Amino acid sequence: MDKTLTISYCEYGSVDELSAADRELLLRAMESTTGSYSPYSHFAVGAAVRMADGNIVTGSNQENVAYPSGLCAERVALFAASAQHGPDSEIIALAVVGRNAEGHWVEASPCGACRQVMAEIEGRQKQNMRVLMYLDGGKIRVVKSASSLLPLAFTAQLG
Ligand code: THU
Repeated sequence: MDKTLTISYCEYGSVDELSAADRELLLRAMESTTGSYSPYSHFAVGAAVRMADGNIVTGSNQENVAYPSGLCAERVALFAASAQHGPDSEIIALAVVGRNAEGHWVEASPCGACRQVMAEIEGRQKQNMRVLMYLDGGKIRVVKSASSLLPLAFTAQLG
C-alpha cells in the first residue's frame, strides 16, 4: 500500500508580516551571524531560539580544520539553551538565516543532523517548536512543528 507524508508550512512575504516576537527572533538570528567562525565555507549561519519563558539564546556555525568537528548554528543555539537553562526548559521557536561570502542574506534550511536534535527536544517537551527559515529574496518559511521536518525519525526504544 502506498502512503504519503506531507509537510505543511506558512510562507510570509517579508519580516514585516511576522509577529513582533518572531521578527525579533529572526533579527537576533541575523545579528548572531557576526559570531560565525566559517573560514572554510565562508557561509555564516545564525540561529536564535526562544524559550517558553521568553528568553532568547543565539548561536552561529563554528567550523574547524578537521571539518566534522565543527557545529551548525542551530545546534550551537539549541545545546547552549539546554546547557544554560536546563534540559527541562522548553524551546518554542527557532529562527535560522544564512549569509553568503558576498554578504547577502540567503536561505539556510536546517540540515538532517540539526533536524534530529530539534525533533528530540520537541518530543520531550509539551509545546511545539516552531521553525522559521529566512528564504532568498526576504520571504520567511514557518513550520509549526520541528518534528514535521524529519518524518519517520529515529526514536530508539533503548533498554
Ligand atoms: N550550516 C549551519 O550552520 N546550519 C545549517 O542549517 C546548514 C549548514 C553550516 C555548516 C558549515 O559551517 C556551513 O554552514 C556550510 O555548510
